[in-house]
Amino acid sequence: MSTALSVNLNKIALIRNSREGNYPCVIEHAKVCIEYGADGITVHPRPDQRHIRPDDARQLSKLLSAQKNIEFNIEGNPLAAPQGSYPGLIQLVEETRPDQCTLVPDSDDQLTSDHGFDLTKASEKLVPIIEQLKLFGTRVSLFMDPDPDQIKLARQIGADRIELYTGPYAAAWGNQEELNRIFRQHLGAAELALELGLGINAGHDLNLINLEKFSTIPGLQEVSIGHALTVDAIAMGLGNAVQAYKQILQRPNRGH
Ligand code: PXP
Repeated sequence: MSTALSVNLNKIALIRNSREGNYPCVIEHAKVCIEYGADGITVHPRPDQRHIRPDDARQLSKLLSAQKNIEFNIEGNPLAAPQGSYPGLIQLVEETRPDQCTLVPDSDDQLTSDHGFDLTKASEKLVPIIEQLKLFGTRVSLFMDPDPDQIKLARQIGADRIELYTGPYAAAWGNQEELNRIFRQHLGAAELALELGLGINAGHDLNLINLEKFSTIPGLQEVSIGHALTVDAIAMGLGNAVQAYKQILQRPNRGH
């Protein structure tokens, strides 16, 4: 099994939103990603609509439902209130029926997601949300730090998968001792998730340099990558960037 690559298109939307009009077009970029081998497309709509807008999600849903075997993943905070034309995450999932919804505990004033759920606090609110999302036919993944106690709770409240937050792993690159320490935490988290029957995704700050090591994590089913892949696309073109990430994920001697 090779790890799936889901390309996060937030940054394309961010550039588009810096001007009037629809340039660059998120949908056209999704098509290029798919043509060059992406296994899925991820978007992270937020109430302030600073990058992906609800209509992007609706159009992507149409595009991807017509494609075979391309996964649509919507990330977001299910507890964030609707705002303007942002209908809230649950409503958007009901409309767009993505294959997967990744729940993230981010707040509106956060630059980007920077921690996993604390399920000792969030579980009560998440249980009915997870049930509802599953009724829509959507797989539910929870954005998590590699903390064994938290991962056990993720299983207990009905998550199908966890997405391991890889920001600290990426930040430790260049500091071998720290990197090994964090990598071991992820290894332990993944082994536990496998034992509990949870699927494993990962994402945040993964790039062409740090992805290979992380891709040896046992059972890693999917990585979602946006920021670095978009930067690489400026230098090498989007299709080539997608292929470069795919090549890393397809290398032999990986952890599964
Ligand atoms: N996973 C989650 C939950 C995220 O919020 C993001 C960023 O939107 C990513 C993965 C992708 O991170 P990056 O853009 O650093 O590749």
